[in-house]
Amino acid sequence: MTKLGEMLKETTAFLKEKGVGEVDFGLILGSGLGELADEVEDAIAIPFSEVPHFAVSTVVGHAGKLVYGTLSGKKVLAMQGRFHYYEGHSMQKVTYPVRVMAAMGAHSIVVTNAAGGVNENFTPGNLMLITDHINFTGDNPLIGENDEAMGPRFPDMSHAYTPAYFEIAKKVAKEQNVPLQEGVYMGYSGPTYETPAEIRMSRAMGADAVGMSTVSEVIVAAHSGLKVLGISCITNLAAGMQSSLNHAEVVETTERVKSQFKELIKTTLAE
Ligand code: HPA
Repeated sequence: MTKLGEMLKETTAFLKEKGVGEVDFGLILGSGLGELADEVEDAIAIPFSEVPHFAVSTVVGHAGKLVYGTLSGKKVLAMQGRFHYYEGHSMQKVTYPVRVMAAMGAHSIVVTNAAGGVNENFTPGNLMLITDHINFTGDNPLIGENDEAMGPRFPDMSHAYTPAYFEIAKKVAKEQNVPLQEGVYMGYSGPTYETPAEIRMSRAMGADAVGMSTVSEVIVAAHSGLKVLGISCITNLAAGMQSSLNHAEVVETTERVKSQFKELIKTTLAE
């Protein structure tokens, strides 16, 4: 067995011992969006720090625990908080939880994040269905020896975000009167916010939103054969489109739209 295979064996054995059973959906809850995990029924919560081979999350607004249980009638394994590349973790560390979700039997993941709006038609507080991404981090979690048991050497990214899930999310948003934008998420490494010139470049390249997470997780999901639903919360307009940026504004906006966000995800999961 490969090193990754051994690690996953240890992590899944630990989780099973803690009472984690069958998993349908993995959930990765971004900045300010972690509250959804508080609605999981019959919850088993495990701090990241206790999980073998997990990194330790350091960002404000990221609680840092795994929550297992039932949400909208589905068995979910939720990450309240996530690991970021800018914290100094390798891409493999950042995406290890996605490997764990796949190893626990999940068929799909829901990835969420706070993002800056690049599309001129977006307003802070909009939610955006991620239809595709641009990996602009300068790295890739699949660099290195490929573990054939996990997935192919050259994964197809043509449908990394699952088209069948777009329709469900759009239908639910319409029913709930939630303004759901859609577009391309461009992933930067961070931790700096982008410059105005970088945002002009991002727009020219076809990005609708920018952020510092998600792309590596979705690459590993594609490698693992997981279906993906991605939702961004547009917390601010990107650099150059408003006077300045700060993390407080990001947190404030997620606070404001989190109930809409939670309802959208819960009903989409149910359907
Ligand atoms: N840029 C990058 N990441 C972000 C932003 C942004 O403007 N807003 C929230 N996360």
